[in-house]
Amino acid sequence: MIPDLSPVRAQFPALALTDAGRPAVYFDGPGGTQVPQRVVDAMSRYLIHTNANHGGAFRTSRESDAILVAAHEAMADFLNAASAQEVAFGANMTTLTFAFSRAIGRGLAAGDEILVTRLDHDANRAPWLALQERGVIVHEVDFEPADCTLRLDDLAAKLNPRTRLVAVGYASNAVGTINPIARIAEMAHSVGAWLWVDAVHYAPHGPIDVQALGCDFLVCSPYKFFGPHSGTAWGRRELLEQLRAYKVRPAGNLPPDKFETGTQSHETQAGVLAAIEYLAELGKTYGQGFAAEFGGFTGRRLALKQAMAAIRAYERPLFEHFVAGLRAIPGLSFYGISDPARFGNRTPTAAFRLVGRSPDEVAEHLARRGIYVWSGNFYALAVTERLGLEETGGVVRAGLAHYNTQEEVDYCLACLHEMA
Ligand SMILES: Cc1ncc(COP(=O)(O)O)c(C=O)c1O
Repeated sequence: MIPDLSPVRAQFPALALTDAGRPAVYFDGPGGTQVPQRVVDAMSRYLIHTNANHGGAFRTSRESDAILVAAHEAMADFLNAASAQEVAFGANMTTLTFAFSRAIGRGLAAGDEILVTRLDHDANRAPWLALQERGVIVHEVDFEPADCTLRLDDLAAKLNPRTRLVAVGYASNAVGTINPIARIAEMAHSVGAWLWVDAVHYAPHGPIDVQALGCDFLVCSPYKFFGPHSGTAWGRRELLEQLRAYKVRPAGNLPPDKFETGTQSHETQAGVLAAIEYLAELGKTYGQGFAAEFGGFTGRRLALKQAMAAIRAYERPLFEHFVAGLRAIPGLSFYGISDPARFGNRTPTAAFRLVGRSPDEVAEHLARRGIYVWSGNFYALAVTERLGLEETGGVVRAGLAHYNTQEEVDYCLACLHEMA
C-alpha cells in the first residue's frame, strides 16, 4: 500500500499546476501519465552533458551509449526479460508493432492465419490486418458485451494448426479488462502460434513478467508509465534473432540493434531509465509487504515488482470507491467489469456514459472544472463498434493512476452529479 501519497505526488511537478482555480485532476492516465521531476532532470541532463550519436570514441558518445545500455537494462528489469538484448526501443508501440508485423509477415505464406481481438486498441489490430495484403487470413476474436471480457471459447474455436500468431492486449485501454495472458499463451502455443501482447494499458497498473506469462513478444509505451513519449518491444531472444528486420546495411544485425531503425531518441531513453528508477524507489519505500509474492526476484527486479504490486493495492480500493460513486449517479451506464469482487481482472479505468449527454459534452463539462478525462474511442474502435456506441460518440474514460487521490475522485463524482 501507499499510506501517504503526498511524498509521491510531490515528485510530479504537473500535479501542482492549477486549472479552474484548483490543482488539475489528471484522470487521463490511459492516454499518457505525468512524469516525476527526475525524468525531466534526466532528459535535460542528457541533452546538456552527454548529447551525442551512438558509437563514437569521444566522451559524450561513450557516456551517451552507457545511458542507452542502462535504459535497456532497466526495461529488461521492468519486464523480467532474460536479457537487455531482448528489448528494443522505438518511437511508440504503434510504430514498433507495424515494424514487427512486417518482419514477421515476411516469414508468412498465403493461407497462414492470425488472430486479433475486438477488445484491442487498433495498434494491435491494423498492423496484423495489413498482412491480409500477403494473403494472410486474419480472424477476429469477440468479447462478451455484458462485461467486456474476452471470449476464450471464441479464441479456442478460431485457433487451428494454421494459426501463426495471436495478437492480444494485456488490458483494454477502453474498458480496463485484463486478459488471462498466461492462459492465452498456452492456447496459442498448443497450435504452435506465437503470442504478441500489447501491454501498453496494463503497464502502469501491475507487475509484468514476460517469462512467467510465457508470451513471445510484448510491447508497451513508457509514456503510459511515468516516462517520456516512446515505445518498447520485448521478444524472446531466439525469435528476435530469427526474424528478418527491415534495416539498413550498416546497422547491427543482432537484436536489439536490427530493430532500432535510425537514431533513437537518446534523451527519451535517459527519461525512461529515470522513470524506472522512480518506480524502483517506490517499490523499496512502499512495497516491502509484497516481497513474499516475488520469491526469486532480487535487486531492482524485486523493487519493480514490489512497486507495481503496491500501486495495484493502492489503486484497487480507490477504484472501488470511484465505481460505487459512478453507479449511484442517475442515468449513468458503466461498461466493463463492474463487480468489485472481480476487480482483480481489470485496471482502474472507468468507461461510462450519461443519459442525454454525449461523451464529449461530459468531458467538456469536467474539463471546465479542471478534470481531465477522454471521450470517444481512444483508438479502441472495435470496442465502441462492438458495444454499438461508436455512432453516438463512444464513452467517457476516466482512468486512475497511483498519484490520484480520493479527494479527486469525490470531486469528479460531485461534478458528474451536478451534470446528471
Ligand atoms: C492499449 C493500447 N495499445 C496501443 C496504444 C498505442 O500506443 P502508442 O501511442 O505508443 O503507439 C495505446 C495508446 O493509447 C493503448 O492504450
